[in-house]
Amino acid sequence: MKRQFERWLVAGVLSLASSTLCVGQDVIRPGDPWLDSHGQRIQAHGGGVTLYKDVYYWFGEDRTPSNDPDKRYVACYSSRDLVHWESRGQVLVLADPERLGPHWVLERPKVFVGRKGAKFVMYAHLDDAPYKLARVMVAVSDRIDGQYKYVKSFRPLGEESRDIGQFVDDDGSAYLIFESRPTKGFFVAKLTDDLMNVEKTAFIAAPLEGGALVHYGGFYYVVGSHMTGWRPNPNVYATASTLAGPWTEFSNLAAQEVNNYDSQSAMLLKVAGSKGTMVIFMGDLWRPHALWDSRYLWMPLEMGSRSMHLPPPQPWSLNVRKGETSLRSNVVPPTP
Ligand code: GAL
Repeated sequence: MKRQFERWLVAGVLSLASSTLCVGQDVIRPGDPWLDSHGQRIQAHGGGVTLYKDVYYWFGEDRTPSNDPDKRYVACYSSRDLVHWESRGQVLVLADPERLGPHWVLERPKVFVGRKGAKFVMYAHLDDAPYKLARVMVAVSDRIDGQYKYVKSFRPLGEESRDIGQFVDDDGSAYLIFESRPTKGFFVAKLTDDLMNVEKTAFIAAPLEGGALVHYGGFYYVVGSHMTGWRPNPNVYATASTLAGPWTEFSNLAAQEVNNYDSQSAMLLKVAGSKGTMVIFMGDLWRPHALWDSRYLWMPLEMGSRSMHLPPPQPWSLNVRKGETSLRSNVVPPTP
């Protein structure tokens, strides 16, 4: 599997090198170790990106081997270009908040910004071993880069909740996406104004995890992975004109045999610039036996009318201000 991914990557590097595109440090290299501005490996697995005052903040699971094994850590990085990331440190350092036991789990952290930007609320999947508790935890901070303080945990809408995702619509409404196994599907749930709870918006009857959503070209696109734990599988997507549906059938994001290039969805990031709008697939290349060494697969998606496609991973660059990527086929002009 790893060898197959490396073959794609080599093919991508060669095709980029033979093109006129600039290859340098302004390039995102899917699958490579991604270093922060101090030369340290970015620890933001299962992550989420929050845009606040023209700066992107990338939050994720910090799996640094030297972390205290009894605690769970969320790291934060900031960037204006989505390529160069400055470490803002470990913004949540949490001891077992609810006597969950030595193998307790805090995964897929996402940060939402309060309407007046005065408060920042982090959600994450909170669990015991082996993933029976199925709750979300909520932590708050009055600065985006922490420190976040644990407030509570709950089952959103009273349902079991494992993988979570985050979505902020163009009108600023914020949603939590969560996978609920007993109901064989996942929920899109609007956050209340204070961001501390959720209301039901949609239930999508497909047993998927790694849920991610984007609003693009007048349609909603939802992406998810099948339930194979850390093992990658062909991720799928569906579309709808309203969040409440009806949703189309799910289709593969890439050809079945490429197995989503061994990645699992974490988020869909829309970058709207002066020249175009692109959607970036943010995925994790998990290494379950050395989670700290898990890599990231970020690629701009090829967007059609109600279709999306994950192209083979290759180094690429982008201009956030213009909303353009070096992979020109992935950019469409802004909607008039
Ligand atoms: C994945 C999930 C990860 C983690 C893993 C554990 O399916 O997306 O966040 O929970 O299972 O097996």
